[in-house]
Amino acid sequence: MRIDLTGEVAVVTGVSGRLGGIWATALLDAGAGVVGLDLDDVTPAAVKEHDGGGRYLGLRGDVTDRASLRDALQTAIRWAGTPTILVNNAGIDQPPSRDAGSWLFEDVPDQLSGAVLDVNALGVLRVCQVIGAAMAGNGRGSIVNIGSLYGSVGPDPRLYDHIDMDPPFLKPPAYGMSKAAVAALTRYLAAMWGPAGVRVNTLSPGGVLGGQDPAFRQKFTARVPMRRMATENDLTGPLLFLASGMSRYVTGCELLVDGGYVAW
Ligand SMILES: NC(=O)c1ccc[n+]([C@@H]2O[C@H](COP(=O)([O-])OP(=O)(O)OC[C@H]3O[C@@H](n4cnc5c(N)ncnc54)[C@H](O)[C@@H]3O)[C@@H](O)[C@H]2O)c1
Repeated sequence: MRIDLTGEVAVVTGVSGRLGGIWATALLDAGAGVVGLDLDDVTPAAVKEHDGGGRYLGLRGDVTDRASLRDALQTAIRWAGTPTILVNNAGIDQPPSRDAGSWLFEDVPDQLSGAVLDVNALGVLRVCQVIGAAMAGNGRGSIVNIGSLYGSVGPDPRLYDHIDMDPPFLKPPAYGMSKAAVAALTRYLAAMWGPAGVRVNTLSPGGVLGGQDPAFRQKFTARVPMRRMATENDLTGPLLFLASGMSRYVTGCELLVDGGYVAW
């Protein structure tokens, strides 16, 4: 069944990243007007190449800077009206690679942990305070907060033990903390904005196939009951389900899109 979002106005934060382009093009394909926010390059390649569907507007919007979010909201309202869909996607992580810095657990710098929490957790809160509050004032909408499987499970160190680094690669502990916070904020806002007609849910992807090295891919895939990493097509259906009236009685939930990774 095709989901029709004609007339809806969607905001996607962190639009220029890997997943941002996937969310934005899925929403455009469904007919929504899409406002993409990011730090600098505000029109991802996927949107540049996109043909047809809804209209797109790229704006500078820093989720750590409330004033930039207010400015973006005002421009979005003038462009198409008050947003009715919000995808809180902007996030930072430390990919497993030899080029990444690494620390002993006890030496992980506050600056790194603080930056991850500021963008991934407080960033979602700020965007909801600015854009989510406008949606609640308008009396309808759907907010999809992008979480992660690492909000539910700790990273398996064996996935990284082939990477030749000293000290060994360590996923930032604040990453999973930030994603668990996103799921908690989802429940908080679902309770608060249920009466205002705004639903709030978390979409938590598992590992998305990208530039990971072959050994990582092989070990990660072996750990997934469905024996593969997520691809674009695995993500768009769940996003459109949560963004649209298909999920009209669903709020406060976390939809794990992880091929069963956290099931065992
Ligand atoms: N890729 C995966 O395998 C995966 C898995 C689970 C969850 N996620 C989550 O999905 C989301 C997107 O991930 P991705 O892989 O596309 O990452 P990415 O690094 O490719 O993109 C993230 C985007 O967020 C933007 N951003 C960073 N700080 C920002 C700020 N202060 N304000 C506005 N934008 C900012 C970046 O410029 C970038 O365009 C993140 O929340 C991530 O945690 C990704």
